[in-house]
Amino acid sequence: MCGIVAYVGHREACPIIIKGLKRLEYRGYDSAGIALMNGTLSVYKKKGKVSELEAFLQDKDVHSNIGMGHTRWATHGEPNDVNAHPHFSTSKKIAIIHNGIIENYAALKTLLISKGHTFKSETDSEVFINLIEDIRENNHCTLAEAVRLALHEVVGAYAIVVLSKDDPHQLVAARKGSPLVLGIGKGEYFLASDATPIIEYTNDVVYLKDYELAVIKNGELDIRSREDVKQTPYVQRLEMALESIEKGGYEHFMLKEIFEQPRSILDSMRGRMISASNHLMMSGIREFENKFVNAERILIVACGTSWHAGLVAEYLIEDFARIPVEVEYASEFRYRNPIIRETDIVIAISQSGETADTLAAIELAKSKGATIFGICNVVGSSIARTTDAGAYTHAGPEIGVASTKAFTAQVTVLTLIAMIIGSKRGTLETSKLHGLMAELENIPAKVERALKLDQQIQEIAEKFKNATNFIYLGRGYNYPVALEGALKLKEISYIHAEGYPAAEMKHGPIALIDEQMPVVVIATKDGSYEKIVSNIQEVRARKGKVIAIVTEGDTTIPAMSDFVIEIPETSEHLAPLLSVIPLQLLSYHIAVLRGCNVDQPRNLAKSVTVE
Ligand code: G6P
Repeated sequence: MCGIVAYVGHREACPIIIKGLKRLEYRGYDSAGIALMNGTLSVYKKKGKVSELEAFLQDKDVHSNIGMGHTRWATHGEPNDVNAHPHFSTSKKIAIIHNGIIENYAALKTLLISKGHTFKSETDSEVFINLIEDIRENNHCTLAEAVRLALHEVVGAYAIVVLSKDDPHQLVAARKGSPLVLGIGKGEYFLASDATPIIEYTNDVVYLKDYELAVIKNGELDIRSREDVKQTPYVQRLEMALESIEKGGYEHFMLKEIFEQPRSILDSMRGRMISASNHLMMSGIREFENKFVNAERILIVACGTSWHAGLVAEYLIEDFARIPVEVEYASEFRYRNPIIRETDIVIAISQSGETADTLAAIELAKSKGATIFGICNVVGSSIARTTDAGAYTHAGPEIGVASTKAFTAQVTVLTLIAMIIGSKRGTLETSKLHGLMAELENIPAKVERALKLDQQIQEIAEKFKNATNFIYLGRGYNYPVALEGALKLKEISYIHAEGYPAAEMKHGPIALIDEQMPVVVIATKDGSYEKIVSNIQEVRARKGKVIAIVTEGDTTIPAMSDFVIEIPETSEHLAPLLSVIPLQLLSYHIAVLRGCNVDQPRNLAKSVTVE
């Protein structure tokens, strides 16, 4: 959580930093601040969005060629001006921006107070900067040296940038557990939590590694380990188009990302499957093919929407490859003494590749000798770099906090994986495999058709915008979709919603159903169609309002539903890729009609880098 940006070079730093912070607002948006070197070291900060900071800066002298900014998602201390970053040290000679959590901050703070340091905020970050100041004063050393020594004292996660009044042309940065990308331009350098604030200016980037320290001074870059050993930076050329991180005429990033799905699903299969030539290949899997084929068990760890994609994968892999699969919330997995064997394959799914709980679950599985396979969207992210092998989803940057295109891309990649393992193990018949490949190739066009339902869904949203509760029901492959639909609605419209396996409804949620209760039932034509018809009858008998997602041409369910959304027919194994589309649109339109901030819902952050 939290986004950081810093700049040093020949341009005005302030506009670069403000624009960069806006791009990083998906990481947190409860307060923002900036530090600039304008004769002295000045810090300006404000509770609220980056735009509020921008307005606050209107009448300030912001001329500077060096600076750093931060957009916050509160961990220690409520969101207010004081707790916003940057934070000064007691002497106000140095300032810090920090993304992460310092776990031993309380002990360090007590020690620092006893040495005369004073604190204005409740943050762990202010402790970090005072620790650096304390080390600098006691050791009479450079700022860079003090930061390096401080890294030995702090426990937890951090990406930091430090500015000093005494070194007006220097930025010092370090990371452990939180991402930090360094952009290298012509005579200028950028630092940011991800590459989006940078790519407008340069495509050459270095992903800092854990415990690395970068010092940019007088136009020179020096990267060292925490043990002070000089490192040779690996400069990567990023192929990210600027348009992919802009709204492109859509009102919200979420809507743009929903509408991008025909393309993003195609991109996630590109080069991996061509049904006409029966080509099915994934380089990450090929490397570990024997392990996959012989695996006795597959564990899937993930959080949020990625966990829902994992549930779809459980059904696919067990069906096609006949390997037992367990899907775990990463946060539970790591704290419950799970059984992990060397023969297990752990698939970690994460859009951002930075989710702290998923990273920790990977570390635990690694320590037990399991093989780790990552499915990430963000190229170069921490999870992508820590796994033994993996596959990128290639959905392109997802900026809306509520995940949409990343989900369908994850499901597409997982479907390919299940098909590959199934075919290698001989558990998936060739004719069935070829049929599935041909149908998967049709999915982008069918998603395109499902997107045409937008207007109709908007009208349904109008009817239910004031509901206080929703129930989502699905069976089989559509059960994870019911969970995902409910999550989308909760996240962005703040309406309470429950997703349930349809048959389980009668063991509890049925008690909630009355004439006020909208029940979204995903009832496409599949193996459990007859059963779900009965579930709809159970809802109707209690006067619930049925919004049914059905297969085009169905006449039975429309006759018993209040509202019907018809989606194209497909194989039940691929149904989630289509049935989720109307649910994304429904939550989007309800949230817009309720006046909610769709791209930046309250209390949430896109990348949860704290436990
Ligand atoms: C946050 C986001 C969700 C996301 C989850 C897991 O809660 O708001 O949209 O599904 O984290 O994130 P990951 O990046 O690991 O997929």
